[in-house]
Amino acid sequence: MIKRQIASASRRVCQPRLFSSFRTVLQTAKPVEAAPKKPAKKAGFFAYTLYGLVAAALGETAYLTYAVYKETNPGSQLPQSTLKENGNKKKNVVILGSGWGAISYLHSLDTTQYNVTIVSPRNYFLFTPLLPSVPTSTVGSQSICDPVRAIARQTPGEVTYLEAAATDVDPVNNTVHVVHKNMSFTLGEAFVNNDEPIETTLNYDYLIYAVGAKVNTFGIPGIPEYASYLKEAHDATAVRQKLFNAIEASRLLPKDSDERKRLLTFVVCGGGPTGVELAAEVKDYIDQDLHKFIPDIEKEMKVVLVEALPNVLNMFPQKLIEYTKEVFNNQGVELRTNTMVKKVDPKNVYASVKRADGTSEDVVIPYGTLVWAGGNAQRQLTRSLADKITEQKTARRGLLVDENLKLDGASNIYALGDCTFTTNAPTAQVAHQQGEYLADYFNKLAKLDDLEYLSSLEVNPESVQKLARRIERQKASLKPFVYKHQGAMAYVGSERAIADLSWGSWSTLALGGSLTFFFWRTAYVSMILGVRSKILVVSDWIKVALFGRDCSKD
Ligand SMILES: Cc1cc2nc3c(=O)[nH]c(=O)nc-3n(C[C@H](O)[C@H](O)[C@H](O)COP(=O)(O)OP(=O)(O)OC[C@H]3O[C@@H](n4cnc5c(N)ncnc54)[C@H](O)[C@@H]3O)c2cc1C
Ligand SMILES: *[C@@H]1O[C@H](CO)[C@@H](O)[C@H](O)[C@H]1NC(C)=O
Ligand SMILES: *[C@@H]1O[C@H](CO)[C@@H](O)[C@H](O)[C@H]1NC(C)=O
Ligand SMILES: *[C@@H]1O[C@H](CO)[C@@H](O)[C@H](O)[C@H]1NC(C)=O
Repeated sequence: MIKRQIASASRRVCQPRLFSSFRTVLQTAKPVEAAPKKPAKKAGFFAYTLYGLVAAALGETAYLTYAVYKETNPGSQLPQSTLKENGNKKKNVVILGSGWGAISYLHSLDTTQYNVTIVSPRNYFLFTPLLPSVPTSTVGSQSICDPVRAIARQTPGEVTYLEAAATDVDPVNNTVHVVHKNMSFTLGEAFVNNDEPIETTLNYDYLIYAVGAKVNTFGIPGIPEYASYLKEAHDATAVRQKLFNAIEASRLLPKDSDERKRLLTFVVCGGGPTGVELAAEVKDYIDQDLHKFIPDIEKEMKVVLVEALPNVLNMFPQKLIEYTKEVFNNQGVELRTNTMVKKVDPKNVYASVKRADGTSEDVVIPYGTLVWAGGNAQRQLTRSLADKITEQKTARRGLLVDENLKLDGASNIYALGDCTFTTNAPTAQVAHQQGEYLADYFNKLAKLDDLEYLSSLEVNPESVQKLARRIERQKASLKPFVYKHQGAMAYVGSERAIADLSWGSWSTLALGGSLTFFFWRTAYVSMILGVRSKILVVSDWIKVALFGRDCSKD
């Protein structure tokens, strides 16, 4: 259940509200010691509830201890080999990517049945739903990164990980060319120390293509040079550094100077969930924490959200869109809809605003920090793969796949996530379900392959017939992918969140208050894959609840 959820943590850090929530939690936990003293005979509903809580608390602790132990002491893995135990040849599976699609697939795959190689230039999985919380240091970026090697080590069979980017896929010869680049990140910029890239070519029997998408700048001049994105962990660090640079620089200028006003303007372009959550987080950060250290910052600092369409959060029902507008209005986030960005220079965003009467007007929005949260565009690798396959010639917006996620026009390439174009939205929720589905499909495929292998060795006609029937049954068990939408949520600031749970019209919710964020947080934590990350994220939240968000620049 991956949902777009409330990112903001520990709002109102020093205010009684949060502490009252903590108190509620502590009070619920308190009976843990008191409960056993009660005489069992008189145990009424209340006592049973207490016993239930004690049991749940003990169970949770025991489970957590076990989970931590299991994660930190993974059992031995079946070594990679060319043959399976039954003598059948192991097929080579090459996975491209380490995002939602690829990692969900790897996590559920029976890696003893294949010779698995995972290739990605990013050696960790990134829990994107919490990324908008990182620039404000509500959550540390390390807390939402899970190393690929740690994930691969948890599977039953040995998996090879190569830190490299695929640069060419040859769907005719079944090979992928991969290149390791010596990369380092400084101030959010990727520096490639490409003295001598190391390259190799891998043969695959099956290719799992999950390289995601890149940020779509719509060819707007200036965006790549002057805007930050919010896509990778280092982007979040870059946004934070730009924000603080702007704030600190503004302190040197006289109040009311235009330059100071510009520096203190945080502009987010793109009114999707990412843009909305980031604007909300930054506004919260200023109002709840920064104002304690920087006098009047909450009055001077402006957060602006720019969107080309008439509304933000277009995938949500109108009721929730209105609610979001209201929250932004009360909070003081400036919403500029119908505003199409045309050009960006180091200090200004140039846009054209469409008025109600159909005319348009050019506006200039000076900015200190600019974040571009536009949509997705396909990677070069994806486009060149599509160009090599006749059936993909019309695949402008993403690779075309069939009901089993197999690439149209290729017999052994499967694609999932943001690099595909289907009726489903490009979300983590979809990529995650596709990954789990495909792993299950491949587990079944391995069995089918074994049956066919055994059948080819069999001489007894009766046994051959028996095997043929089992093969038919196994084939019938390969069902098409069906997406089950679990709903969408977004954090909209000042402890308020919206949720569209798609369980019927009653489940369109606009929620607020400390209970809400406890609820959402629990949901978040349960979605995170590893126990280590779960604990880190929760401890980040507790840290912020106690001390407020950090305001150091680095
Ligand atoms: C800030 C933010 C917040 C989001 N919040 C939510 C949310 O709350 N709910 C939700 O459902 N969705 C959310 N999304 C969307 C979600 O993250 C994506 O839909 C999802 O990550 C898609 O998964 P994927 O596996 O297709 O691609 P990704 O997760 O992007 O993974 C792609 C992988 O491929 C690797 N790669 C790139 N190039 C190559 C190459 N040449 N060779 C090999 N590997 C390569 C990358 O390093 C990466 O590991 C959010 C996205 C962002 C940016
Ligand atoms: C497949 O490999 C052969 C031999 O290495 C090569 O000549 C051919 O161009 C390759 N096919 C494609 C489509 O690249
Ligand atoms: C990677 O780049 C750094 C910095 O330029 C250099 O010191 C290091 O030796 C390089 N490593 C490799 C494996 O090329
Ligand atoms: C596993 O697959 C990789 C990638 O194709 C290949 O390089 C390697 O030799 C294979 N290993 C075995 C044991 O077959």
